[in-house]
Amino acid sequence: MKESALHFDQIVQDRRSVRIYDSDAFFDHDAVKRSIERGILAPNSSNMQLWEFYRIKSPEALKKVAWMCMNQKAAKTARELVVVVGRRDLWKKRQEALVAEMERVYPDAASKPAKRAMNYYKNLIPKYYWTDWLDLWGIGKKIFFFFAGLKGPMVRHGNRADIRISVHKSAALAAQNFMMSMKAEGYDTCPMEGMDAKRIKSFLKLPRKAEVVMVIGCGPAAEDGIYSGRFRIPNEEVIFEV
Ligand SMILES: Cc1cc2nc3c(=O)[nH]c(=O)nc-3n(C[C@H](O)[C@H](O)[C@H](O)COP(=O)(O)O)c2cc1C
Repeated sequence: MKESALHFDQIVQDRRSVRIYDSDAFFDHDAVKRSIERGILAPNSSNMQLWEFYRIKSPEALKKVAWMCMNQKAAKTARELVVVVGRRDLWKKRQEALVAEMERVYPDAASKPAKRAMNYYKNLIPKYYWTDWLDLWGIGKKIFFFFAGLKGPMVRHGNRADIRISVHKSAALAAQNFMMSMKAEGYDTCPMEGMDAKRIKSFLKLPRKAEVVMVIGCGPAAEDGIYSGRFRIPNEEVIFEV
């Protein structure tokens, strides 16, 4: 095995969901900054980066958000909380950034790759992300995909729920990158969905379509911070070769 794989394996093995953090041990808040920056290097759907990361650092804000996390110890004792937010509403802004990037990467607009990239971001992306109130466009797309799919392989997702899932998937990958990086920095984390997303959204003054994906407690683990040994369903029940 390569040395890098051994290092990575160590990080994966060492990462645990830590529920109690040490309030006295030194905590380098810059490790959170570096880890978020590594988080956003995660793969994400169409590179749309429909995510935001809110660092909850002040004692007052920490107290409030921990309360919104049902006062779980993983939140209450955390030295910092990171709220991972999905922002499907920002698709137009991201589309503009990506179109500008494609223009930079492919200065010859008549070239094949430029045309392909522009068709993707200018034509297909709005068709995917635009939604109407009743999601009729989404239902229409589903029906179209069903009939088109009778002839051959067809992408099936396109309604509002599908878009939401896609945004959550990408944000969760960034969250995992973040947690692995925190472990590599020598710190611990706990992802939480046991929280009042509605209250957190209003605390962060987020718009209606923004969604709290998870809140991540961070800090140096207390001695009794891990509740139990690791348990996973046996490999043969979850890993299959076809
Ligand atoms: C999406 C998600 C939500 C979770 N929510 C909570 C939570 O609200 N509170 C908590 O204590 N742990 C939460 N966890 C942590 C899991 O309980 C934990 O990852 C699992 O038990 C496996 O343990 P390990 O992370 O130590 O390997 C969550 C994990 C994920 C991925």
